[in-house]
Amino acid sequence: MKILATSDLHQMNNKWKLLISAVEKEKVDVVAIAGDIFPKDVGIQKQISFTPHFRKYLERLAELNTKVVLNLGNDDNQLVIPLMYTLHNDGLCYYKPEDVAIVNDIEFASMPYVPDHPFGYKFWCRAESKNNLRIDPKQYCEPLIIDKTNKFVIIENYQSYLYNQKSIEESLEETASKVKNIQKSIWLIHVPPAHMNLDVCAHGAKVGSQAVYDFIKKYQPMITIHGHIHESPEYNGHKYFHKEGNTYCIQGGQVTARLFYTIIDLDNGVSLKHSYYDSI
Ligand SMILES: [Fe+2]
Repeated sequence: MKILATSDLHQMNNKWKLLISAVEKEKVDVVAIAGDIFPKDVGIQKQISFTPHFRKYLERLAELNTKVVLNLGNDDNQLVIPLMYTLHNDGLCYYKPEDVAIVNDIEFASMPYVPDHPFGYKFWCRAESKNNLRIDPKQYCEPLIIDKTNKFVIIENYQSYLYNQKSIEESLEETASKVKNIQKSIWLIHVPPAHMNLDVCAHGAKVGSQAVYDFIKKYQPMITIHGHIHESPEYNGHKYFHKEGNTYCIQGGQVTARLFYTIIDLDNGVSLKHSYYDSI
């Protein structure tokens, strides 16, 4: 079985067209996308206007007999969530956040949340754990969420907001309890783990999640696919994956206008090939 793993297609609308071409070329069985999938170049509140195009892309992938497993990320407008469930119910993708989708006999689990960051939109931000809220000391504006009318509103007490939400640690533990064979499972986790150099920002800071790292060390899933700090391979010596124990952890994000993806071949153990970093 061949899986095309990628993430953070939000950099530009054209990435979805490139994805269709890559699937035609690589003849993959499954596409797995680890979040931030709606185009950011139109602005987060205008992402809703992308939804008819999004359905068309998924219909084209279905025509190619390719199944699509999706996660959302912190740059995806929360109001697209009902649409994701509609597309899932229409058989055009698997969207099961904090849950498990069985695709070609493999369990795919998803966890969309990220630790706090300096950007305003906070819907997807969660504490690492109840003991570690990890609020970023640098904030570009007031903490925001989008209301039902697609307007930004300020979160009045962000510390208490974060404390009262399920933490990343709790979300991963809860999702893991739904997986039958965790050593053979594949996880779409938008934020990369700490301590693996898959989380290096352009300014040099490493901002991966400690809770995700602890989860991988503890449960040793077969593969984890991440994005979020999509520029990381450009600042870590072109490293796009890390093997931690038995787990292959992949940074699937985008760097330039080309489509960055990893082909995972499971026919004989696990083998990985990157569309760019394995050919330079
Ligand atoms: Fe992100």
